[in-house]
Amino acid sequence: MSNSQFKTVTIAGGTGTLGYAISEAFLNDGSYNVKILRRKPENENEKAKLLASKGAEIVYADYNQKDELVKALKGTDVLVSAVCFDKKTAVTGFYDIQSPLLAAAKEASVKRFIPSEFALVYKPGVHPVVDDKIKFREELEKSGLEYTYIQTGLFQEYLYWIGYDIVNKKATFFGDGNTKLYTTSLPDIGKYTVESLKIPETRNAQINVAGATLSLNEYLKKFEEVTGSKWEVVEDRDVRHRYQNNIDPVPSAADDFRALVTETTKFDEIDNDKFSFTPQPITETIEILVKQA
Ligand SMILES: NC(=O)c1ccc[n+]([C@@H]2O[C@H](COP(=O)([O-])OP(=O)(O)OC[C@H]3O[C@@H](n4cnc5c(N)ncnc54)[C@H](OP(=O)(O)O)[C@@H]3O)[C@@H](O)[C@H]2O)c1
Repeated sequence: MSNSQFKTVTIAGGTGTLGYAISEAFLNDGSYNVKILRRKPENENEKAKLLASKGAEIVYADYNQKDELVKALKGTDVLVSAVCFDKKTAVTGFYDIQSPLLAAAKEASVKRFIPSEFALVYKPGVHPVVDDKIKFREELEKSGLEYTYIQTGLFQEYLYWIGYDIVNKKATFFGDGNTKLYTTSLPDIGKYTVESLKIPETRNAQINVAGATLSLNEYLKKFEEVTGSKWEVVEDRDVRHRYQNNIDPVPSAADDFRALVTETTKFDEIDNDKFSFTPQPITETIEILVKQA
């Protein structure tokens, strides 16, 4: 049970990939009123139904109508943003999506805003998506609301995305095999988010957490152990340079992003020891991924 000062938590984008894990973690904790903020128009959504059956209140608002957002956020102590732009169209970014949320949160007297970060510690200028998150952070810090940035490295459930192809037993490394890749499972990200509300040092701060801190080769070994077979390894090392300079073979934008993530998912400091639980072993996540493949 919570000894946090907060009672009502609203998760924007709470039926998304990450948002669902965070919503479940708050519901499992059992000590918060949990609201899921979704965009209008209302539509059928299995995850929303499931969260409602576990006790969440589903609220809808048009993000372009401030009064609707303010009304939806009334009574909220903590707003967790797990929104993401539409990855197919990418017409809006994190700044444009979250700015109306911030303005409404301020008016609705929300106390803390946890923005949609949950990734890496990036420097400005490395990627437009990153710059957009940084621009929003600057606005949040000026707003007067409390904030916490939670950085988690790569989602472990996205190891396939970074290059571990379970079906074809083939790993593509966008860096040298000794490159460390910090990763956290979605259920653990949910738990870190919930527990962050009870830890005084998370107020107006960034926390970095990681369920596993292995190298590309070490993850490969785990995949080989779980699948019981030797994998083929392909190295593609200068993707970012080729992409930026249009050099053949020109990589896809997705591979450029994978290379960026591979280069940067390592934290200088880790805050795991501020939390009460031990993250799930990487082998457990890999076993699930292998079963699902
Ligand atoms: N570290 C990693 O490996 C990793 C991997 C993926 C994502 N992430 C990060 O995790 C966060 C969440 O990403 P995700 O992939 O979980 O998100 P997602 O599932 O793609 O989307 C989350 C929710 O955002 C809402 N949404 C979509 N387009 C929107 C728009 N234009 N305006 C307002 N809301 C919109 C939708 O909720 P409704 O339709 O219900 O409103 C959607 O369910 C992001 O910050 C992302 O960068 C990190």
